Amino acid sequence: MKPYVILNSAMTLDGKIATKTGSSEISGPEDLLRVHRLRKELDSIMVGINTVLEDDPRLTVHKVPSEKSDNPLRVVTDSRARTPLNSRVINEEASTLVAVTEKASPQKLQALKGVGENVDVVITGKYQVDLSLLMNELAQKGVRTLMLEGGSTLNYSMLETGLVDEVRVCLAPMIAGGVNAKTLAGGEGVAYMKDAFKLKLKKSYNLGEDLILEYTVIK
Ligand SMILES: NC(=O)c1ccc[n+]([C@@H]2O[C@H](COP(=O)([O-])OP(=O)(O)OC[C@H]3O[C@@H](n4cnc5c(N)ncnc54)[C@H](OP(=O)(O)O)[C@@H]3O)[C@@H](O)[C@H]2O)c1
Repeated sequence: MKPYVILNSAMTLDGKIATKTGSSEISGPEDLLRVHRLRKELDSIMVGINTVLEDDPRLTVHKVPSEKSDNPLRVVTDSRARTPLNSRVINEEASTLVAVTEKASPQKLQALKGVGENVDVVITGKYQVDLSLLMNELAQKGVRTLMLEGGSTLNYSMLETGLVDEVRVCLAPMIAGGVNAKTLAGGEGVAYMKDAFKLKLKKSYNLGEDLILEYTVIK
């Protein structure tokens, strides 16, 4: 059992989701509204811990009219429970589930659990968060849809584990370059193109200066 997963990302023409310094303001204003409308439609939204540490995102619906109840459940993959206690992803605006592993220190776990009723901590996996188990756990909590919002490492792991159903990309008319700048999917990468994750384009349209591409992942 697992939620339906939409990987949503903004990237430059050369596939970068951030610059070498981590700057990631890529979407135009119209795309930001699209992302917030999508957040409002879905049950949950997930990011990796590096995105929390670098961007300190709120992961709420705040650019379109909304109620507190419109906010999706925020999920962070954070093996070592490094989520800072003052980070916005665990503020009171919405509920948050921090997925950690057995290697998280008891002190850090305790501190996270003490943040408040809106923060839930689940232990899944030994060294890295077991994404299949996590998806199963989310489904059991009633989560039917999940928006995967990066970053690069988590996107790759989710694709590799076969957990992504759709990919939606905002392609901005920019080229960032930089061998160390993060791309849509990082991780280890496949060795041969025949092993690349295959997609089928189902929709494309212009949005302001950007191009939106929507794909189904072929399984
Ligand atoms: N343009 C966009 O749409 C967009 C969206 C989001 C992020 N970004 C950018 O992406 C960058 C961050 O990407 P990133 O690749 O460095 O990090 P990331 O994907 O945000 O986080 C990866 C981390 O998550 C943790 N993790 C736990 N279990 C995992 C698993 N099973 N698979 C993968 N990761 C797991 C790992 O750290 P631990 O081992 O410590 O747990 C891992 O290093 C930032 O610069 C951000 O601005 C851009």
